Amino acid sequence: MKKAQIIIDRDFVIGAIDKRVYGSFIEHLGRAVYDGIYQPDSEFSDEQGFRKDTLTLVKELNVPIVRYPGGNFVSSFYWEDSVGPKETRPSRVDLAWKVIESNQFGLNEFCDWSKKAGCDVMMAMNFGTRGMEAALNLLEYCNFEGGTKYSELRKQHGYEKPHKIKTWCLGNEMDGPWQIGQKTADEYAKLAAQTGKAMKEMDPDIELVACGSSYHQMPTFGEWEACVLEEGYDVIDYISMHQYYGNPDDDTPSFLASNVDLDHFIQNVIAICDYVKGKKHSKKTINISLDEWNVWYHSNEQDKRLEKWVQKPHQLEDVYNFEDALLVGSMLITILRHADRVKMACLAQLVNVIAPIMTSDTGVWRQTTFYPYLHAATYGHGTVLNTIVNSPTYESKKYGEAAYLDSVVVYNEAIDELVLFAVNKNLSDDLEVSMELRQFADYKIAQHIKMHHDDVKAVNTEEIPDNVVPVVGGTSEIHDGVLKAVFENKSWNVIRLRRG
Ligand code: AHR
Repeated sequence: MKKAQIIIDRDFVIGAIDKRVYGSFIEHLGRAVYDGIYQPDSEFSDEQGFRKDTLTLVKELNVPIVRYPGGNFVSSFYWEDSVGPKETRPSRVDLAWKVIESNQFGLNEFCDWSKKAGCDVMMAMNFGTRGMEAALNLLEYCNFEGGTKYSELRKQHGYEKPHKIKTWCLGNEMDGPWQIGQKTADEYAKLAAQTGKAMKEMDPDIELVACGSSYHQMPTFGEWEACVLEEGYDVIDYISMHQYYGNPDDDTPSFLASNVDLDHFIQNVIAICDYVKGKKHSKKTINISLDEWNVWYHSNEQDKRLEKWVQKPHQLEDVYNFEDALLVGSMLITILRHADRVKMACLAQLVNVIAPIMTSDTGVWRQTTFYPYLHAATYGHGTVLNTIVNSPTYESKKYGEAAYLDSVVVYNEAIDELVLFAVNKNLSDDLEVSMELRQFADYKIAQHIKMHHDDVKAVNTEEIPDNVVPVVGGTSEIHDGVLKAVFENKSWNVIRLRRG
């Protein structure tokens, strides 16, 4: 059996986990909003038309923050159309996804929904067809106490108290040729810096996320980030990263190595942030908001055949298999291993659209990817330890050398719990892993959760919702202060240790 070793020490830390790394995303796209979180005519909905069964699963995931309303959608969105009496709200053309937006669910409904779901709002603004003026009006509507045009309008709409939204995205993927109102780095940098500055004049408590690159291989990657940060360093708090992976060539070893690329992407963005910091002799550190990440490719072909200008089509409805869950687990591990700099991350998206939660007219179910996200969001709190991982490796066609073992160790001081998250990417061989517990030598195994399936293509559907699920129980024991575990070939593992 192949062997790997994890070396930990309580005093070697990477950083504190910001719980917002377990954020997610709801875009006006496909059936994310309509039929996903909002379906007034459904027997499963509450008095506001919010799907209660969806809310139950969102609360199970403990999602701390949700980005809204897009995505590409936001770049031609008129927020004013989405507020006020529903019967007066106009339908509009959604240029990004070639559908009709009814505006029957808008920003006030989303704030209400977020309260019920127990999460904060990350509000994205239209920097495509609009810019500073619309952004300032929106901020005034959402956050200003009263006595002004837009704060009074909010009150007229039934919201006496401001929403006090803290986190604002200065546009979405403005480097992308697919974006309505795409900009050059220079154009975007000036707009983002000037808008951010004015927004902070109105509300100094907000924090701002500037657009970084839409993915690692963007031709403008690097120069884009440097330009945006040089222009707006003083007002920007986070630079965004977006990254999706797929397995269209059915090369599972390469697919499972995709987080090697994510790791390089994060390292590169950190380097650029710190280059600008150094150049400016600044004491401020810019952190990362990985506010779109996931597996996305299964629905690509079927989406090309969708009819245009309809409402709530079945768009981006990827059905996730077991290997997707393994990669989501590995990506979460990569995010946590950068806990010192990645302070927000949004699994894109949350419901029906490339999502861990699916709905139909008859119920909800959990996709395979639900589980690693659930485990990380539930048990991954506290401080990430700076572990050394000695693992056998393999050569992947797409990303070169990759370790079979992905792992991260988190110490949650508040409840005195040590948690190991691990993926064994080996498709045929189990992996024997040892970890000397050092200062945690008197801890015992409280739980070993394991997720494995013989078939990497196995999926959960409405008919068979529990085809791929985690089980409690795995091969692990502690002897003389050393944790020894056998991680089954192709498996996701969570081992929780508590003081004996
Ligand atoms: O999440 C789906 C889309 O992916 C978003 O609208 C866009 O920002 C990204 O390209």
